[in-house]
Amino acid sequence: MNKKGTVFNPLRIMSIFGTRPEAIKMAPVVKRLEETDGIESIVCVTAQHREMLDQVLKLFNISPQYDLNIMKSGQTLSEITCRALMGLEKVIKEVNPHMILVHGDTTTTFVGALAGFYNQINIGHVEAGLRSGNMYSPYPEEMNRSLTGRLANLHFAPTNGNKKNLLREDIEKNDIIVTGNTVIDALLGIVNEEYKFELDILNNIDYKNKKVILLTSHRRENLGKPMENIFSAIKEIVMKNEDAEVVFPIHLNPKVREIAFSILENTPRVHLIDPLDYEPFANLMNRAYVILTDSGGIQEEAPALGKPVLVLRTETERPEAVEAGTVNIVGVEKEEIFNTTDKLLNNKEEYKKMASAVNPYGDGKASERIVKAIKEYFKDK
Ligand code: UD1
Ligand code: UDP
Repeated sequence: MNKKGTVFNPLRIMSIFGTRPEAIKMAPVVKRLEETDGIESIVCVTAQHREMLDQVLKLFNISPQYDLNIMKSGQTLSEITCRALMGLEKVIKEVNPHMILVHGDTTTTFVGALAGFYNQINIGHVEAGLRSGNMYSPYPEEMNRSLTGRLANLHFAPTNGNKKNLLREDIEKNDIIVTGNTVIDALLGIVNEEYKFELDILNNIDYKNKKVILLTSHRRENLGKPMENIFSAIKEIVMKNEDAEVVFPIHLNPKVREIAFSILENTPRVHLIDPLDYEPFANLMNRAYVILTDSGGIQEEAPALGKPVLVLRTETERPEAVEAGTVNIVGVEKEEIFNTTDKLLNNKEEYKKMASAVNPYGDGKASERIVKAIKEYFKDK
């Protein structure tokens, strides 16, 4: 909502984000805002993540004007919520933006939208309309994105399917813009066949003759037994398949690290490494044989690179790549994960079916469409 008489030149757009995936997917939007005439781009990071956020800011050369620095080790959802909400209140009052942009489904996303609403600021939701239909999976992301959808004025939906989800929730048709996913904007140009890793173990892997499994896992609902199942299945896979080699960049969450090391440490041909910066990670995806993950973003990137993905969850809010055949939902039971992975490693036909490059998530022009739609939105205000 804008008070009458507000002068919209420049249009002040404040992007709020806090974690690695939000930063990767908001970077192309921020860059686009920065180079658009008539727009003043302001970035406020909650720093719900610290190191994992900073590496993305550095890669894309983004210097936030505001940094709430809220991360604490082992933080709870309520702690993130309270610290971010209190910090954002002050920043929003100082900047008084015409629109706040949030991305996706983290706690920073929801709180950014809530803080905007409390101050009667317009909210644009990037990556809007993804739904699993189960409020506890992914947890708390399904609720975060639904609540953000309720608070937002403009909804940037990556796909037509996402748009349909929003229409089902009675969001006004004219407030939804199908843009593609900005992750494709970020990915293009980063992957390069000649890329050399800083980490020697990654340069020394024989990607042609080994079947490299890239593993990531961090979801809150997978902490505990599901993660134990996942890592035990991986251990059995490398023990059975001598040509399999696993690279696991482990999320900095201490709970994830504890389970990962307790099951996989000292397993031959399993490399447990720290999270990779986005550029080496994208290039590692491009060289991997198969990707096993519970990540959201990787389900969008890997299909564009023609890499089969086995999703370590019981459902997905990203059905497009499943329909296209490159993504398979394998769940979190040890036997199912072992059997499906083993089949993919040893059955060429099965592999070929999943390894064709498809890209249902966009053409690399999502940020352009988002910025254009924001300008349109304010034209008649
Ligand atoms: C968060 C998001 C999740 C997103 C994920 C991306 C919420 C509730 N969850 O989950 O939707 O998929 O980010 O990775 O918003 N840590 C560090 N350094 C870092 C980052 C994390 O040490 O740079 C450790 C800290 O101990 C922190 C813990 O990881 O307390 C968990 O971080 P948190 O943001 O609460 O949850 P994620 O599982 O990362
Ligand atoms: N990623 C990265 N380094 C890693 C693991 C992942 O840069 O070691 C990138 C990945 O390419 C994707 C994003 O981080 O763009 C996904 O983040 P994450 O899996 O943490 O969150 P989600 O997408 O599940 O919210």
